Amino acid sequence: MNKMELKTLFSPGKIGKVQIKNRIIRSATFTNMASEQGNPTEEQIEFYTTLAKGGTGLIITEITSIDQIGKNANAQLCLDDDSQIAGHKELVDAVHEYSEVKIAPQLSHAGRNSFNPQHQPVAPSSIQNIVTKKTPRELTIEEIREIIKNFVDACGRAYESGYDLVQLNAGHGWLLSNFLSPFTNKRSDEYGGDTQNRTKILLDIYNQVKDEMGKKFPITIKLQTNDFIPEGLSLEEGIEIAKLLVDTGYCAIEASGGGIELIARGEKPYPSVVVKTPEDENFFLPSVQKLQQIKKDCSIILMGGVRNPLSAEKILQEKTADFIAISRPLIYEPDLPNRWENGDLSPPLCTSCNQCYGTVMAGSLHCPIKKKAERRKRREEKKKLNK
Ligand SMILES: Cc1cc2nc3c(=O)[nH]c(=O)nc-3n(C[C@H](O)[C@H](O)[C@H](O)COP(=O)(O)O)c2cc1C
Ligand code: SF4
Repeated sequence: MNKMELKTLFSPGKIGKVQIKNRIIRSATFTNMASEQGNPTEEQIEFYTTLAKGGTGLIITEITSIDQIGKNANAQLCLDDDSQIAGHKELVDAVHEYSEVKIAPQLSHAGRNSFNPQHQPVAPSSIQNIVTKKTPRELTIEEIREIIKNFVDACGRAYESGYDLVQLNAGHGWLLSNFLSPFTNKRSDEYGGDTQNRTKILLDIYNQVKDEMGKKFPITIKLQTNDFIPEGLSLEEGIEIAKLLVDTGYCAIEASGGGIELIARGEKPYPSVVVKTPEDENFFLPSVQKLQQIKKDCSIILMGGVRNPLSAEKILQEKTADFIAISRPLIYEPDLPNRWENGDLSPPLCTSCNQCYGTVMAGSLHCPIKKKAERRKRREEKKKLNK
């Protein structure tokens, strides 16, 4: 490959004032590796330094809880207590050792997606989740204000830990997206009703962070732009919401949509659609194309089925997106960006079969397909030696 072919993909870009060495972002991916106290473990630090060595420009780690009720799993990272700052700093410092790689936590509250057996889930409205079979309790206004404060405090802790920026998780049926969707938000107070009111929680978080910290710490968001259900958030309204966020000052929007309940409804499993053909790739392009028209200074991130570096390059060159983000292929091949940069443009080994989702239910994130392939290879090598 002529290196010029991926000139834009491997050129630096900016999110707010933060320079990213290339346009490749690791999309947040839960590893189930944290300590019970919400601190990064040695295993997790090794996992993220391996990714950093592999050439990704910005690593967005994974759902990181802003309080205990919003914590979905025991081994989930948290930033709900000052005692966690030292542990997160260790992770950040370890990643920063690798040639200018940047790192961000994904601040999150499980909302009506919560599987946590210790707490009844909470949400803007009391509507049963068809996967967990749990019915969340409707939040009071005071509790919403408390949650906003917890997001703001978690941003402060992320800054103290040395993270380069922060991403809010407002997608996939987690709490912040529960507010955005007309299907899950039936409130009649200031946090429900029209688009502006359903977006208010995101505007309040941003404005309160700005009041406390100024603009020194870029606030970005993974945004539900489409629920893909008739009663839910439409793409059109998703873009209206994005406009409000752009005008408020969010530095980057990673377009997403869907959630766990889609699978139970027998629908296409957004955000982790199976990619078999080139036509299946880049499945959030319709959202990104619309976001590009309203973006102003905000960076737009294309996530979802990004598999072909040449098509990513074209999308970046045409300025349809400013960055691309990848999740599943980097589980199988954490060095995929280096491989592409070094001229091997063959498709990712990941078949997007989604078996890795099962691994985090029972232990640490890994790719079972890769493990199987490695075992087979070892067997064949042994056979050869024994001949
Ligand atoms: C095992 C697993 C864990 C995930 N964890 C998160 C997460 O913590 N936060 C999030 O926003 N998305 C999460 N996702 C979704 C991915 O970030 C991504 O949006 C989706 O898989 C589509 O991108 P891809 O085609 O590059 O995999 C997860 C996906 C997988 C497979
Ligand atoms: S299990 Fe492996 S091959 Fe399947 S989606 Fe996950 S990383 Fe890709």
